[in-house]
Amino acid sequence: MKPLVIDTLVKRYGDRVALDALSFTVSPGEIFGFVGGNGAGKTTTLRIAVGVLSPDSGVVRWGETPVGRPEAARFGYMPEERGLYPKMTVAKQLVYLGRLHGLTAQQARESMTRWTRRLHIEEHRDKPVDSLSLGNQQRVQLAAALVHDPDVLVLDEPFSGLDPLAVDAMSAVLREKAEHGVPVLFSSHQLDLVERLCDRVGVVHEGRLTACGSLAELRAPRAARHLFLKVDGAPGHWPADTPAVASFRPQDDGVLVEPAPGSTENDVLAAAMRHGTVRHLSWHQPTLADLFRDLVEPAKEDTPA
Ligand SMILES: Nc1ncnc2c1ncn2[C@@H]1O[C@H](COP(=O)(O)OP(=O)(O)OP(=O)(O)O)[C@@H](O)[C@H]1O
Ligand SMILES: [Mg+2]
Repeated sequence: MKPLVIDTLVKRYGDRVALDALSFTVSPGEIFGFVGGNGAGKTTTLRIAVGVLSPDSGVVRWGETPVGRPEAARFGYMPEERGLYPKMTVAKQLVYLGRLHGLTAQQARESMTRWTRRLHIEEHRDKPVDSLSLGNQQRVQLAAALVHDPDVLVLDEPFSGLDPLAVDAMSAVLREKAEHGVPVLFSSHQLDLVERLCDRVGVVHEGRLTACGSLAELRAPRAARHLFLKVDGAPGHWPADTPAVASFRPQDDGVLVEPAPGSTENDVLAAAMRHGTVRHLSWHQPTLADLFRDLVEPAKEDTPA
């Protein structure tokens, strides 16, 4: 199995730069989560990755080979706009797509049977796609991306609109494909899920990759920067009067505090004890959602309205 290499992609729509020299690599067997705000450039990247859109410059490679039609035929793609024929039955559709990707009629039929069973949509095989619920249509869409047993998976928001059981089913399939050495690239706004599922994460903002790495790598520069405290009886703004505190913000039923340079957790604790009863103090591990806000929100504030 070979990596999927996104190399210095640039894409403009008129004056608007949708992708600005975007690069990253998804290794064989890796689940790579692609996150970013609305309009950040995720769909544009994924479309270019599977060859349905051309970049202005840059290249997508599968191993050493630039991705052209023969390579893309080995990719499984779940488009954002979804791409099923609404009036065709589930079974016909999947067999047709399998045939399009070069399977024999029998192989396509077997694959359709296997994936509809695996994704728990077998009882819907003979129904037209548009009669299915949204989540079940999405399962069909996943089956469509998998029916030809692809060597690379590219999925645009595969988890949106899924119930928790379908999320589990989708996650299990992605893990299984990765275990077989397939590079798996997907976009999502569900950061808790990305955090759970992905080996590495890329954060895109205004067409640029602002961070890329494992969650541990993304956390490292920010780890141990904030203390989380619960202080009973203290006014909500107590850290504002504390020289040991550089900044703070309320979170859940406590407060996140950034110690001032040269101050330790003991200094913060002593100040907190002067204001109330300290019920909890720990170093805060930032979640992917915290990191995302750090990476994306300051830049947003700089953007003129
Ligand atoms: N066909 C198009 N014509 C003009 N502009 C486009 C077109 N497609 C995308 N864009 C612009 O390119 C930028 C990136 O869009 P893209 O769809 O890649 O974002 P996204 O990260 O997938 O967002 P979302 O989370 O909302 O799906 C946006 O500014 C968008 O308006
Ligand atoms: Mg999109």
